[in-house]
Amino acid sequence: MTPLTQDELKTLVGQAALQYVVPGEIVGVGTGSTVNKFIDALAGMKDQIKGAVSSSVASTERLKALGIAVFDANDVESLSVYIDGADEIDGRGHMVKGGGAALTREKIVAALATRFVCIADESKLVQALGQFPLPVEVIPMAANHIARRFAAMGGEASLRLKDGQPLVTDNGQHILDVKGLSIADPLAFESQINQWPGVVTVGVFAHQKASVCLLGTAQGVKTLDYSR
Ligand code: 5RP
Repeated sequence: MTPLTQDELKTLVGQAALQYVVPGEIVGVGTGSTVNKFIDALAGMKDQIKGAVSSSVASTERLKALGIAVFDANDVESLSVYIDGADEIDGRGHMVKGGGAALTREKIVAALATRFVCIADESKLVQALGQFPLPVEVIPMAANHIARRFAAMGGEASLRLKDGQPLVTDNGQHILDVKGLSIADPLAFESQINQWPGVVTVGVFAHQKASVCLLGTAQGVKTLDYSR
């Protein structure tokens, strides 16, 4: 049998995530190619949910195009579940996110939710965070200062570009991608970087870690439960 492609694994976990959607409620929706599979699957049960809170303009557009109502995060007190992908996830549910530049809104929607369901193909599971260049959303005037602070701790930060220009996030800010970091203690690291002036959001999700990961593997979808 031919092994499933990465795209097929993403479809599998996107569909598997439907089991966590609570009928009658609003669901938190992340951003990225894996989440797009989830959104497509969610369209099949759109009449059973109230709608979604979205973490990016891209996801909002996809949700609306499929006829799913999108609520402003300010109009929602809490969510039972937030479903999103990751660039890396470790054995404790800590993640690196932001490859799609949506990390700030992702962290906000995740903070509203009781449960974070991460959907990912098995290439995202790592022993320790730090191989994927760490996305950090920054206020543009602070970018070089923050890059120097990362250099002092052994990291190499580069400004993310789009079409040769600095990428501008949904929040009007820039992204630094930082290579070469060692993130031994994700909770402490996230707290530390969040203190730096000009940092909007660091792409380590340890305070808002995953409760569960649905991991797409050659053997099917594995459920990693981090809540215990
Ligand atoms: C976007 C994210 C995504 O969840 C992450 O980049 C994974 O994306 P994909 O599912 O396309 O691999 O954090 O900011």
